[in-house]
Amino acid sequence: MTKTGINILGLSGSNRADSFNTQLLSVALECAKRQGASITQLDLGAINLPFYNGDLEASSGLPDTVLDLKKQFEAADGLIISTPEYNGFFPGLLKNCFDWLSRRTGPEDPILSAFDGKIAGLMAATVGGSGGIRSLTSLTTQLHYLGVTVLPRPFSLTHAGKAFNDNGSLGIEQLTTVDDMVVALLRALRRSD
Ligand SMILES: Cc1cc2nc3c(=O)[nH]c(=O)nc-3n(C[C@H](O)[C@H](O)[C@H](O)COP(=O)(O)O)c2cc1C
Repeated sequence: MTKTGINILGLSGSNRADSFNTQLLSVALECAKRQGASITQLDLGAINLPFYNGDLEASSGLPDTVLDLKKQFEAADGLIISTPEYNGFFPGLLKNCFDWLSRRTGPEDPILSAFDGKIAGLMAATVGGSGGIRSLTSLTTQLHYLGVTVLPRPFSLTHAGKAFNDNGSLGIEQLTTVDDMVVALLRALRRSD
């Protein structure tokens, strides 16, 4: 059976206003939209999650921002994540988001419900020549731990400072590779139900 009406949730691992990863995410989400998916682009910087704190959780439960985020994850079929690389790893902005999302609202909330059944397409953009390959490795390990299926062949954008045109578009060669990743993600999601 194939699934229709695919919902894609997009996350950037950068809260920088002119983030290359946020630009890359926008490009990928536009590809998903052209392929018929419904898209939501999260702005983790604007959501401003508190740093995970067990005392805060014990005294007042999950913050409303986390409950909203959990609902958005649960409503999504697939994820597209674009991550910077910070010191050879994916950044704390994403880790903190995942740590909050891994917490249960109560005993009736299944373990890791926010991540259940999700398939993710990953990308990384860095200003240097590595293209964030180490952040992709660490992010893949994290997502596997949380129960997310990660598509093979993530997209890696090197020298991101020179990659985008003034209107935020990518060159045709890179755009085609992003589009291929998005098509593969949607194909996997349509098969998954
Ligand atoms: C704290 C910090 C650590 C970084 N570490 C790496 C790194 O390990 N490898 C790398 O290629 N770039 C590294 N960079 C450079 C980032 O790739 C670059 O700033 C990138 O543009 C950040 O993504 P953004 O444009 O989406 O904010 C680092 C930047 C910061 C601020």
